[in-house]
Amino acid sequence: MNDMQSSLPPLLTFSDVGKSYQALNGIAYQAIRGFNLDITEGDFFCLLGPTGCGKTTILSMLAGFEMPTSGSIRLAGETIQGTSADRGVVFQSHDSLYPWLTALENVEFGLRMRGVDKATRRERAIQQLRIVGLAGQEKKHPQELSGGMKQRIQIARVLANRPKILLMDEPFAALDAQTRNLMQQELRRIWLEDRVSVLFITHDIDEAVTLGTHIGVMQAGPASNLKGIVRVEIDGERERTQSSFIEHYRQVHAMIRDEVDKSRRHELSQSAGA
Ligand SMILES: Nc1ncnc2c1ncn2[C@@H]1O[C@H](COP(=O)(O)OP(=O)(O)OP(=O)(O)O)[C@@H](O)[C@H]1O
Ligand SMILES: [Mg+2]
Repeated sequence: MNDMQSSLPPLLTFSDVGKSYQALNGIAYQAIRGFNLDITEGDFFCLLGPTGCGKTTILSMLAGFEMPTSGSIRLAGETIQGTSADRGVVFQSHDSLYPWLTALENVEFGLRMRGVDKATRRERAIQQLRIVGLAGQEKKHPQELSGGMKQRIQIARVLANRPKILLMDEPFAALDAQTRNLMQQELRRIWLEDRVSVLFITHDIDEAVTLGTHIGVMQAGPASNLKGIVRVEIDGERERTQSSFIEHYRQVHAMIRDEVDKSRRHELSQSAGA
C-alpha cells in the first residue's frame, strides 16, 4: 500500500462485531466475536475460512440481511441498518434472475424499480452487459444461456446499480471446474476495468490468490474472528504456475491449515456429544 492509499479513510469498517444465533434447541450459538476489519475503496478482499466459521454471517450482516448482536459496521461513514442498493449481492445460484425477462431486462430491473428513466437504464444495462462480455446476448432469456452466462448477468445487474461494494458469497461454487476458471478470469478482467470494491467469500485458496488484492483468513468457530490478512503482490497476469502465486498460496495455506483441523475436531466433538 502506498502512502496515498494508506491515508484514505476506509470504505468499510467492522468494529468489534459479534453475532450470536438462537439455535433451535434454545441455546445461543456465538458464531462471530470481536471481528474487526477495514476495507479500502478499490480493494478486492477475499474472505477465506473453514466451513461453518462464519463467512456467510459476515456477508449477511454487511448486506443488511442480519443485524450484528454487538459492535457496528460502517460503509462510507454510515452505520448499516438494513439492505440497500449501495451493496450489490451476487448469490451462489442464479435462480434470482427472472426467467420471463430477457438478459437486458433483468439487468435493467433494479434501475426501473428505482425510477431511473428508460433511456438511461437501457444505456447503462447495455454497457454493463458489454463489460461482463455478453454484448449480443441482450435479447436472450436466462434459460437460453449457460450457467456462467447467467452468473455474469447477475454481476451486470448489481453493477448497473453502481454499488459502493459488490458482495459475493462463493458465486462460482455451483459451476463446473472449467467454467469456474473462465468466470474467475472474467471477474478479474471486470474488476480491472471497473475497480469496484469487492468482498468475495471463498474456501478455495487458488481462487483467492487469482482474484484478491487482500486475503483475510478466518479462524474456526465458535466465536470466530479474523486470524490475519495476506496482501497479494503479484505483478501482471496471475498464473497458478508462477513462483509468486505459489508463494502466496503457501502463505495462506499455512494460516488456514490449523483452522481446518480445529473445525473438524469441533464437528467431531459435536457429533459425539449429540
Ligand atoms: N440462522 C442461523 N441459526 C443458527 N445458527 C446459524 C444460523 N446461521 C448460521 N448459523 C451457524 O453459525 C455458524 C457460521 O455459519 P456461516 O453460514 O456463516 O458459515 P460459513 O463460514 O459461511 O460456512 P460454509 O463455508 O459452510 O458456507 C455455523 O456454525 C452455523 O451453523
Ligand atoms: Mg457460507
